[in-house]
Amino acid sequence: MKSMEKIVSLCKRRGFLFQSSEIYGGVQGFWDYGPLGVELKRNLKDAWWHDMISGHNELVQCDGAPSTHEMVGLDSTIIMHPQVWKCSGHYDLFHDHMVDCRESKKRYRFDQVRGRWCEHRDKKIFVSTLAEMEQEEAEVRRRAMKFFKLRPKNADELTVGSESLTLDKLDSTTDVLAPESKTLDTLTEPREFNLMFKTTLGALGGENDTTFLRPETAQGIFVNFKNVVDSSRVKIPFGIAQVGKSFRNEITPRNFTFRSREFEQMEIEFFCHPDESQKWYTYWRDRRLAWYKELGLSDELLIMREHHKEELAHYSVGTADIEYAFPFLPEGEYGELEGIAHRGDFDLRSHMEGKLDPSTDPMTVQLGENGKPKYKGSGRDLSYRDLETNEKFIPHVVEPSAGADRGALAFLCEAYTEDEAPDEKGNLQTRTVLKLHPRLAPIKAAIFPLVKKEGMPEIAKELYGELKQQMPAFYDEKGAVGKRYRRQDEVGTPYCITIDGDTLTDKTVTIRDRDTLEQTRVKIDDVVAEIQQRIS
Ligand code: GAP
Repeated sequence: MKSMEKIVSLCKRRGFLFQSSEIYGGVQGFWDYGPLGVELKRNLKDAWWHDMISGHNELVQCDGAPSTHEMVGLDSTIIMHPQVWKCSGHYDLFHDHMVDCRESKKRYRFDQVRGRWCEHRDKKIFVSTLAEMEQEEAEVRRRAMKFFKLRPKNADELTVGSESLTLDKLDSTTDVLAPESKTLDTLTEPREFNLMFKTTLGALGGENDTTFLRPETAQGIFVNFKNVVDSSRVKIPFGIAQVGKSFRNEITPRNFTFRSREFEQMEIEFFCHPDESQKWYTYWRDRRLAWYKELGLSDELLIMREHHKEELAHYSVGTADIEYAFPFLPEGEYGELEGIAHRGDFDLRSHMEGKLDPSTDPMTVQLGENGKPKYKGSGRDLSYRDLETNEKFIPHVVEPSAGADRGALAFLCEAYTEDEAPDEKGNLQTRTVLKLHPRLAPIKAAIFPLVKKEGMPEIAKELYGELKQQMPAFYDEKGAVGKRYRRQDEVGTPYCITIDGDTLTDKTVTIRDRDTLEQTRVKIDDVVAEIQQRIS
């Protein structure tokens, strides 16, 4: 049976993941990738970079018609000008709200997207039809938002305008408060936290030298939009992609790497004409979901959750989350892997004018006195001129934003399998195997001499040397061959190559397939090409 405990234990035992600063007791929300984990995460990032950027086919089907678009990369800094975070809205709005339960000592954060107080994980209402879902979630959000803004009048009643909500009613509709929090008296007042990590520029830095570790890679792309257009002469529609670290001082880092304080994002900001933004939004939503499936996440454990209209920011025509049924969640619940957001011209306009639209949701708007923009923009012209039509406009943006750590965790969870395989004597034994897609597997092939004599290790080492030039490979001559197979199964190595007595006479080796256990004999001279072909 798959369980999070078993996955976490395998990750530590085999060197995928370790708690950061473990010898000092660890630090919550920070994780180190070990020798195999670093390969897995790098393979995931490489696959994303290849499929979305370097190897991307410029001619695609979008809205049923052939369309072209270019993709380029960027690597911007983690620390940026403090004004970036003021104009992006993060300085004022990137907050978490928190309450503590005095009795249970549990901590709840307010999930703004879903409008609920949540413990460490989000309890998602699971209903069968989209219509039901829309209706129920709208109600949930309305009630929770009201709750958030109000104080309890007495122990079990809230007054919301002229409406009175009992705690029972609130409890049953929102899934917000844990069963032990039976009275609102047990909850502390909500407190607000900015999620950005502060840091100081220069040795003598004062308040004006305060800046932040980036909470998303996206803003580095927006502030470089003009540089990229001018230097690479890309034409709209095009995407700028970036992979890199982001930092958020999460109140409740939990569930292994799922919610960390330091994590990596793989983000694309796709710039297009406003009239075409809807079709590109749909294109990216579908393309990103398909990508996870191609690399092995199963259809039945993945969902696309479209945000409801009232959840959307004012500038957005759509946002969807790709969610996965992680094993640490109760059945029927999903955790976000990636968000695909339509951001309109919000970011470019803010960095240009420092202006935030006053006509909208108070959760996302921040105006100073007299309705003037609170923060000055860069004053740079971040619009785009179409050289064919001469039209000048501020592009709209579709943003597929994925987490590399959440992705790696999902693929690990999906791959973890316990099945039965025969041991040396032909008896069936339970084996643990990571059925990772060969593109993601940290080691692609392991080479074993059957015994440590008769020249087998020498032949195996020569083959190992050749393979290593082409792909991550592993050499093992210790212990029974069955045990060596098991060790490789457990870390997801798709192929094991054994040099045996026959190799000495007919120059063939066995290639054993991790998933089917099938063994085929291949000429030793053809092994490198054969493995390359199988993993590609
Ligand atoms: N630029 C948009 C943006 O950052 P987001 O939904 O806040 O959007 C995008 O983050 C993705 O980054 C998430 O879908 C998730 O995969 C990853 N992510 C966000 N916060 C994370 C955290 N605390 N730990 C690990 N991954 C996280």
